[in-house]
Amino acid sequence: PPIGTILNLDDFQRVAQTILTDQAWAYYSSAADDEITKHFNRSAYSRIWFKPRILRPVMEVDCSTELMGHDVSLPIYISPAAMAKLGHPDGEANLTKAAGEAQIVQGISANASVSLDETIANRKSDQALIYQLYVNKDRSASEKILAKIQKQPKGAFAAIMLTVDAPVMGNRESDMRAKGEEVQTGGDTEGGSSEGKGVGVAISGYIDPNIGWDIVSWYKQHCKLPLILKGVQTVDDVELAFKNGCQGVVLSNHGGRSLEYSRAPIDVLIELHQKRPDLLQKIDVLIDGGVRRGTDVLKALALGAKGVGLGRPFLYAQSGYGQEGASRAIQIMKDEIERGMRLLGITSLKQLTPEMIEILPPSFD
Ligand code: FNR
Repeated sequence: PPIGTILNLDDFQRVAQTILTDQAWAYYSSAADDEITKHFNRSAYSRIWFKPRILRPVMEVDCSTELMGHDVSLPIYISPAAMAKLGHPDGEANLTKAAGEAQIVQGISANASVSLDETIANRKSDQALIYQLYVNKDRSASEKILAKIQKQPKGAFAAIMLTVDAPVMGNRESDMRAKGEEVQTGGDTEGGSSEGKGVGVAISGYIDPNIGWDIVSWYKQHCKLPLILKGVQTVDDVELAFKNGCQGVVLSNHGGRSLEYSRAPIDVLIELHQKRPDLLQKIDVLIDGGVRRGTDVLKALALGAKGVGLGRPFLYAQSGYGQEGASRAIQIMKDEIERGMRLLGITSLKQLTPEMIEILPPSFD
């Protein structure tokens, strides 16, 4: 269908489901076990309701902000997700170019299908990226990547996101069932046939499941960029991240792809806001998983999140429509965020405070 018929992010998913190969659809859409967490990541946002204010002039709204020290046009970023070429021949390049034009940050997956060199070549001179790292069993391979990233011009990489919620792959059965073909990332990672095991397992054999908090000091020896731990799921671990000297965390459960029945990230953010609001001042708290609407973004920001990531929506958007799809997805989110701000009676993201929302008790649907 023509891109003009796409009104929201779910429309991209519907199109993707009709055009993707079985393998790509299974890899992108799959989640652990019965996909309860994947579903709940999104529905948990329904706990939060708005208290809009009236009679406040809202013609001019500004949804720009700062993410890891970089000026961005929107409080959203592209979560690092592997293998965009399974959906479109240009893969992650579609996202890099769209993010550069829109001035938002893109997370580059360690298992991206476009090579790091190509991504750097696609980057606009003032564009900030974040590199997502999985620690390799062969530490020198990870050290090489960090060295290469630090050789880039200042500002090219805003931070490193170290993913810590997937020491082993989650059990993604639809990915395992899909007809397997050869897969290859754009990096030094293994790849090979996904037959019987799924794409996730085929590309992740190098990841070291045996890392502990001392990995932070290893990191600091090898990289000066801010460190964000991705996949933090408890208030205690946010505190440990801060105490160990990390600059940020992503409250995330890998889009429901790792531990089934891990809590929705927005529920973790609510708990953090209620029990340890001080931590939200000390360390940058980002969040991803199940974010599909501008109002979801506004809710997370009202609770103190500094940035909100979206994974699958961008994979689906570029699968159906390439770079134009990615740009359209960003524009849809911008329109939804701006409309939400106006209807809430605010003109700047700084005005989003806990007073603007009501939090209902947790429920399970
Ligand atoms: C991911 N995600 C992910 N995370 C990561 O740290 N490294 C990776 O290589 C990948 N790869 C990946 C592939 C695919 C197909 C998906 C769907 C996800 C997780 C991603 O960064 C993010 O946490 C979730 O996608 C967020 O949930 P939503 O927005 O997809 O609901």
